[in-house]
Amino acid sequence: MIQFKDVSKTYPNGTNALSHVDINIEKGEFVFIVGASGAGKSTFLKLIMKEEQPTEGEIFVNGVNITKMKRRKVPYLRRTMGIVFQDFRLIDKMTVFDNVAFAMRVIGARPKAVKKRVLYILGLVGLKDKAKCRPAELSGGEQQRVSLARALVNNPSIIIADEPTGNIDPEMSFEIIELLNEINKQGTTIIVVTHEHELVHKFKNRVIEITNGTVTADSGAVTEKANVPIAIAQEDLAIIPEEIAEEISDVSVDELNEEVLKAIAEGEADDE
Ligand SMILES: Nc1ncnc2c1ncn2[C@@H]1O[C@H](COP(=O)(O)OP(=O)(O)OP(=O)(O)O)[C@@H](O)[C@H]1O
Ligand SMILES: [Mg+2]
Repeated sequence: MIQFKDVSKTYPNGTNALSHVDINIEKGEFVFIVGASGAGKSTFLKLIMKEEQPTEGEIFVNGVNITKMKRRKVPYLRRTMGIVFQDFRLIDKMTVFDNVAFAMRVIGARPKAVKKRVLYILGLVGLKDKAKCRPAELSGGEQQRVSLARALVNNPSIIIADEPTGNIDPEMSFEIIELLNEINKQGTTIIVVTHEHELVHKFKNRVIEITNGTVTADSGAVTEKANVPIAIAQEDLAIIPEEIAEEISDVSVDELNEEVLKAIAEGEADDE
């Protein structure tokens, strides 16, 4: 599903962020990416979502060589992904509810369906009572959970989360990884960057360690988890409930990410 073939990334200022990385992540895997600050973890994620381009090598996502992908096709790639950014990237002028609802509205979901779905997802991350707040009124950990809710809302096939528990207390961190674990059991591929060794030990997922831009350890795919019974009802976790899926099946959603990024950019421009 995600394959790096001899990938290197040197930023324009000469920093070698990644060197000769070969990694294969299969559909349905749950992978922790660990490593010191500056090791190249975020760069690795940014290459998968095509926010950065490799200087060398090739990257395949779902069998498609994204290194050669045209810019206008990138939204198609991103709509398969739910992304939790290390810096959250919430839209300041929107409420918590609207930040999460936005992605569904763009693809034409009906208000009633949006409301039901967004409140459900906010409930999953423990933020239902903050729906009317603006990001600036929230703690760092709460903003992080809004960012997670936004990543979950449109049922992505890949969830990419950069330190999704970096600002959250240990108990809540455990719950969030457990939630991602449940989503993973439905077949969603999950890649989580984390500094928290305790979490990595508790959840027996694959661990890839990056040191100074190279892969220095890889525990390999974990397969025996596949048939573990699910604690949360399947239909509760299906990110696009059937009634919404029917409504939007004819709608082109390739503008989704462009719309999201545009709104984020406008929000940032307002802040300056
Ligand atoms: N846009 C950029 N331009 C130049 N150098 C960059 C850029 N982004 C990251 N770097 C550098 O690339 C290296 C890897 O950065 P990266 O953000 O991938 O690290 P990280 O492992 O995510 O660290 P952290 O745990 O602190 O988030 C670092 O040396 C960093 O300073
Ligand atoms: Mg980082």
